[in-house]
Amino acid sequence: MKQPLFFVSNWKMYLSYQANVALYQQYEKQLESTVAATGHTLIVCPTVSALATIARDKSVPFYLSGQTCAAYSHGAYTGDTDAQSLRELGCTYCIVGHSERRLYHHETDEIVAHQTQQLLHQGLIPIVCIGETKEEKENNQTRAVIARQLTAVIRVITRSTVPYFLVAYEPVWAIGSGKLPHQHEVERVFSFIKTLTHGLNLPPIKLLYGGSINPSSVDSLKNTKDLDGFLVGKTSINVAEYKVVIQACNW
Ligand code: PGA
Repeated sequence: MKQPLFFVSNWKMYLSYQANVALYQQYEKQLESTVAATGHTLIVCPTVSALATIARDKSVPFYLSGQTCAAYSHGAYTGDTDAQSLRELGCTYCIVGHSERRLYHHETDEIVAHQTQQLLHQGLIPIVCIGETKEEKENNQTRAVIARQLTAVIRVITRSTVPYFLVAYEPVWAIGSGKLPHQHEVERVFSFIKTLTHGLNLPPIKLLYGGSINPSSVDSLKNTKDLDGFLVGKTSINVAEYKVVIQACNW
């Protein structure tokens, strides 16, 4: 029997505050028993404005996560959310390095490393997103990109005391596009990540795949070797479809 998986539900900025709260209630009604029965870990990443409300009646089988965090602990950083507040709001996890943050907010590897450090100071578990763009893939730079993005973060995670951390391989060209890498491609990236991190003084790594996971695509990747879960964007705001995805991984 295979291990239960992590399902990271990245709601991005798809919905308003009220719609986030309503969606969480739908999760409670429609996903709670599925998650409890399968033993999977379901992590919800709502919009930051809804975290406090959702945390107030958070259901037991679900965990909360931020979608990003500030690179500094506190200070004159208008619009940022600090890691301590995420912890105080009930988060256990936080995404860092999502390609949308790297692209639209110019978050460099160095910034992602600082953000990761902030999370670790607060005992939050990082969900580190890495992945190559279409151009980088076409220029055979996938390994170089993964190595660069991961190395920056690994330096700060070394010797940290979190029980484990998550690395989500999200090819940028697969996010929201309906395009999917072949299972062998994901396996090659996972094995490369293992080689890169082998022998380092790191907490255990959980390997996720993210990008265009939906009811019709999940079967093609759910048997990926070394896969510990999925990071799901668009499909995670459609509870009926998400339930199909989760149930497809019911072994
Ligand atoms: P998607 O997004 O599932 O909508 O492709 C995944 C992500 O951006 O994390």
